[in-house]
Amino acid sequence: MKKLYIKTFGCQMNVYDSERMADVLAPTGYTPTQAPEDADMVILNTCHIREKASEKVFSDLGRLRVLKQRAQDQQNRQMLIAVAGCVAQAEGEEITRRAPYVDMVVGPQTYHRLPELVAKADPAARKSVVDTEFPEEVKFDFLPEEASPRGPAAFLSVQEGCDKFCSFCVVPYTRGAEFSRPAAQILDEARRLVAGGTKEITLLGQNVNAWHGTPADNRGEWGLGRLLRELAEIDGLERLRYTTSHPLDMDEALMTAHRDIPALMPYLHLPVQSGSDSILSAMNRRHTADDYRRIIDRLRTLRPDIALSGDFIVGFPGESDKDFADTIKLVSDVGYASAYSFKYSARPGTPASGADGQIDEQVKSDRLAALQQLLDAQQLAFNKKCEGMRLPVLIEKQGSRDGQMTGRSPFMQSVYLSGEASWIGRIMDLDITEARQNSLLCTPAAASTKGAA
Ligand code: SAH
Ligand code: SF4
Ligand code: F3S
Repeated sequence: MKKLYIKTFGCQMNVYDSERMADVLAPTGYTPTQAPEDADMVILNTCHIREKASEKVFSDLGRLRVLKQRAQDQQNRQMLIAVAGCVAQAEGEEITRRAPYVDMVVGPQTYHRLPELVAKADPAARKSVVDTEFPEEVKFDFLPEEASPRGPAAFLSVQEGCDKFCSFCVVPYTRGAEFSRPAAQILDEARRLVAGGTKEITLLGQNVNAWHGTPADNRGEWGLGRLLRELAEIDGLERLRYTTSHPLDMDEALMTAHRDIPALMPYLHLPVQSGSDSILSAMNRRHTADDYRRIIDRLRTLRPDIALSGDFIVGFPGESDKDFADTIKLVSDVGYASAYSFKYSARPGTPASGADGQIDEQVKSDRLAALQQLLDAQQLAFNKKCEGMRLPVLIEKQGSRDGQMTGRSPFMQSVYLSGEASWIGRIMDLDITEARQNSLLCTPAAASTKGAA
């Protein structure tokens, strides 16, 4: 058996893709390992979203080069190195030039061809084989159905790529055009996951709520709300989530799904990026801050306990103090349970990277600190409100400490408790004893440790 080590950067779609790469390579004799130094193949599944993320790849490659040389010198063993994902797509040429010891470069839409690339790779050649096409065929039609079990909570990609072209973002270029997987294929994969023990599925897409499809009988068109309703019918599928959504595609059918589907968890990640209309316009987001407020109001009317999360960019070109104050105002109005915020990072090839009014690094840092202070306070307040509550938690795995188990609350909070490995995969009622900044501590409610969930 040959050993495969995959390191994943970036978003959940890359996590899903890494699992599928392991599935594709399994029939050719590769089994996963946690130790890169023992691996016969190392794959870096990379992210290009911000400059820092992509620079990490080259520093990792430097370390891998040493491991590869050592395997060769000390054990006469070949180690293949592959770069996959969004940096591979965007900078394939540069990788082969800067790191010629890389054997394979494969894009996000061609990794189903990995076995062919492995066959072509020649570690002695000091030349990479590159496949970063956007092929006619769709990778999902070529991925093996047999997959290793993915645990109690699994990801399922339903949508790929993006046609929105926000002026700061590389995703439309690295992932290609928007594409929705057929409903029947998604439902099949979901059933297989549940048969393998999965209790919670998170539907994934760069623009997941742009998903649309035709049902098997070809009548009408489904949107994501309808797909969620169908998935909720699968016996044994207890929980559903989806990410990441765009405000423009937040239609009424999807919003009412939050009222009607008990399995759909009361949590939504809905990035807005900025609270200033002129910045939103320059970002090509095609909605205003008030459009976003209206969506949030409607969601809260339908599902009053819904927890909200978002993404923010500070220091976008031209952002004035007033624009930034509008972002702070929007955050104060909405009240987030959690959020991600970033300094604007100019990405080669995107319209905003060449725009006038690039913001000074120090100003970006100051604004990020101010925004994060507010978001952290909101998150802590949200967590504190949960103290004393009893919440159903899906136990996912062992925590990092001895005897510690961990899972997620309905609101996506990380939850820790002392417990037993046999609880993994159960949904247990837990009493929240202590709220922290990023997690909740709990004890099982008396009844829930007895019997199977
Ligand atoms: N498809 C999702 C998320 C895309 S990337 C969406 O449309 O919301 C995840 C987040 O990274 C974005 O929401 C944005 O906040 C951030 N991001 C993307 N490009 C960036 C850039 N050039 N600089 C800083 N942050 C960026
Ligand atoms: Fe990027 Fe905008 Fe598409 Fe999200 S919607 S992936 S931010 S271009
Ligand atoms: Fe990064 Fe590509 Fe995801 S750029 S965020 S890995 S789509």
